Amino acid sequence: MAVFADNPALLDHWYVVAGAADLGETPVRVEVLGRAHVLWRDRDGHARAAPDRCPHREAPLSCGSVDGGELVCAYHGWRFGGDGRCVAVPSSDPDVPVPPAAHLRSTPVAERYGLVWICPREPAAAIPSMPWDDDERFRRINTEVDVWEVSATRMTDNFMDISHFPWVHTGTFGAGQDTRVPHLELEAFDDDWYGYAYEVDANNPSEAEATTTTDDPVVHRWMTTGFSLPFVVRSTIRYEDGLEHILLLATTPIDDVRSYFSFVVWRNDDTSTDPEEIIAFDRAIGAEDKAMLERVPGVLALDRTATVSVQSDKPSVEWRRRFVELLDDPG
Ligand code: FES
Ligand SMILES: [Fe+2]
Repeated sequence: MAVFADNPALLDHWYVVAGAADLGETPVRVEVLGRAHVLWRDRDGHARAAPDRCPHREAPLSCGSVDGGELVCAYHGWRFGGDGRCVAVPSSDPDVPVPPAAHLRSTPVAERYGLVWICPREPAAAIPSMPWDDDERFRRINTEVDVWEVSATRMTDNFMDISHFPWVHTGTFGAGQDTRVPHLELEAFDDDWYGYAYEVDANNPSEAEATTTTDDPVVHRWMTTGFSLPFVVRSTIRYEDGLEHILLLATTPIDDVRSYFSFVVWRNDDTSTDPEEIIAFDRAIGAEDKAMLERVPGVLALDRTATVSVQSDKPSVEWRRRFVELLDDPG
């Protein structure tokens, strides 16, 4: 039995499973909360999703192909339209009606921020808002969807935590940072995000200069970090010269202890720097978190008294409290 991944309350939320650019000519298999789904693009180019099981003899539909926007099962060639309807059974005469149970139950799917999101059941809330995506002063930079051998609970706890910066991120921005964390006050930023604002002096090694656009050895950052249940985190960074660097950190539980991770960046820069150069520093920071967390086994204890927390853990403890509340919500 799973610790949290089989909790039905989690089925009604949106999860990032792929980059929009990953969906092309072939079906894609993804797993969320222990359930496999197939993704494909229909004739109009819209992303589609369904459980990855053919109703005929249960072949994974992701082993098949996409032909003219229809999903074709590899086993006996049954074809499914974008809405999941079975439109052809090659072994039957064309005038024989398709059995009603042959249709797929479509999974809600949406493309937002260059990412493909699915909701395994009925969405109880919208995909969290990132208003920078509609702001023409900002450009968006997407990254691949990676698999981390880490529980989504540990990843979200980590992304809400700043006290690990001077320990885990010594190779990037955390060296020399004061280990003491100031008093953090949590607040609702809006209907979608809950978190805290803080200021920090960050190391600015030469590898970071494409991101910060300065060669000052230390840069002052005005930041906010917040979460949207269950596992999405956003961080905003503002520098002295008005440059803003916004991060969406999307974590999706494959199961209790493995997760997809992708991040998206929005920046109001002059777009002269190659996007890859800009996000190389964010990638290096993510690699530091991944290397640390992949050494921490299992699920983060959901009972808060099973781990010791201090003042600087307030944001991640609050995330955990609300996450457990969500798991316990019967309706
Ligand atoms: S199992 Fe898919 S067509 Fe037979
Ligand atoms: Fe980190």
